Amino acid sequence: MRRLAGNAVGILLIILPGFVMSDGPHPAVRSAFGRRSPFLEGHYAPVDGEIEAEGLRVDGSLPGHLRGAFLRNGPNPRFPPRGRYHWFDGDGMVHAVVLDPSDERSPARYRCRYVRTAGFEEEQRAGRSLFPGLLEWPSLSRVVCGGDGYKNSANTAFLWHRGQLWALWEGGRPHRLDPGSLATLDGNPLPPGWRGAFTAHPKIDPRTGEVVFFGYAPVRPYLRLGILDCTGALQAVRDIDLPRSVMLHDFAITPDYAVFLDMPQTFSWGNLLRGRGVFGWRPELGGRLGLVPRRGGEPRWFPVSPGSVFHTLNAWQTGSVVTLVASRMPRFPAEVLSGSVAEPAPEDQPRLWRYDVDLESSRVTEGPLDDPGSEMPRMRDDRIGQPTRFAYTLRTDFRGWRKHDLHLGTTHRLDLPEGWTGGEAVFVPVPSATGEDQGHLLALVQPPADGPAQLWVIEAREFDDEPVARIHLPRRVPAGFHGCWVGG
Ligand SMILES: [Fe+2]
Repeated sequence: MRRLAGNAVGILLIILPGFVMSDGPHPAVRSAFGRRSPFLEGHYAPVDGEIEAEGLRVDGSLPGHLRGAFLRNGPNPRFPPRGRYHWFDGDGMVHAVVLDPSDERSPARYRCRYVRTAGFEEEQRAGRSLFPGLLEWPSLSRVVCGGDGYKNSANTAFLWHRGQLWALWEGGRPHRLDPGSLATLDGNPLPPGWRGAFTAHPKIDPRTGEVVFFGYAPVRPYLRLGILDCTGALQAVRDIDLPRSVMLHDFAITPDYAVFLDMPQTFSWGNLLRGRGVFGWRPELGGRLGLVPRRGGEPRWFPVSPGSVFHTLNAWQTGSVVTLVASRMPRFPAEVLSGSVAEPAPEDQPRLWRYDVDLESSRVTEGPLDDPGSEMPRMRDDRIGQPTRFAYTLRTDFRGWRKHDLHLGTTHRLDLPEGWTGGEAVFVPVPSATGEDQGHLLALVQPPADGPAQLWVIEAREFDDEPVARIHLPRRVPAGFHGCWVGG
């Protein structure tokens, strides 16, 4: 067991003038929110104000190659919600831990900032929440006036491409941020020619530098594929014909295909009328896996068992077989989407799932790769579209991570102590290392009782060991969505 060296660096906090540092929950939201929401309590509870700090205490030793910034996006409502609140609604707050192992005085700094979307700024001026959440009807008056029925919260994930950092939300346009200051620079960085929303999970092809992305919508065209070339120019736009509108959070790519799962996660105005959110689950419609040729040509669709998929790990082609690995639930977690509970029931837990599509025989085989209970699959991103051996997932109860060896079929577990919670693990490879798991995992960790958060640095090849470094942040960080590494 690796022992942590006590490399304590004195803490020097700098609190921005005009912002209040608070160790407790977001007081305005708690006091003004009339109905309870599981997404405003416990580790979901928002924090109050933007802060920054330098000279963070580092226990252990920072690997020398970790020079850059770990970023994590997630919801943090600025004002008490007008109506019912879902986790997906909160204003995007970006948490950045900037690392420089060569700086003895301050090897780690922290900063958090809201993404200044147009809706955020409008609510700032009003001093209150103006937009409905996703459990409510969209603002028809805004739609009639050509605006958005819901606020683009920019709270989900990032794209780091060509030195640009975009904050993403799948219902609208990306926002471009300054990767250093986290200031919002541009609310519409997409080139002309792309209409509609932009997924929270675009894929960068490591061979070509292209960004392959999509947008989905409740009205036609239900699905649209786009490609930005390595200069950021819009290279291709294709409408993809679907029989109905479905929720499509993620996809995957191979060098030749964009890979979609058309699952019966339908839009349901009836559910919205009944206060259950806008999505429905119709397993009788079945599921399909689609291979859309990236360079043109007709998509091919293959029947698969209906399941609910939010995130993919990766896809690749070996001979005539296209493989997709995703995190699959046996059914749509309606209770979670309707906001009545925060996490799926035990029988609905997601698990890593493999689909193999033989292009010659049109035969599909599918099945689980591990026990239920993990989500947010991540991998070495420069293997996107290539055969992948190692996956890293977050336990669905946030109590630790799993490392999956897809070749051996084995799973290593790193569990947190009782009361602690963790976030998605981002893999940072050792530069020039060829081993797929030669690198470190970075993940936010939240101690119990609203204590200050930590950033853990875990050596991927020594996954079961203690983290090689723990960076102590100045206050707690709410549970959030996706992160990325911006190399320095
Ligand atoms: Fe996601």
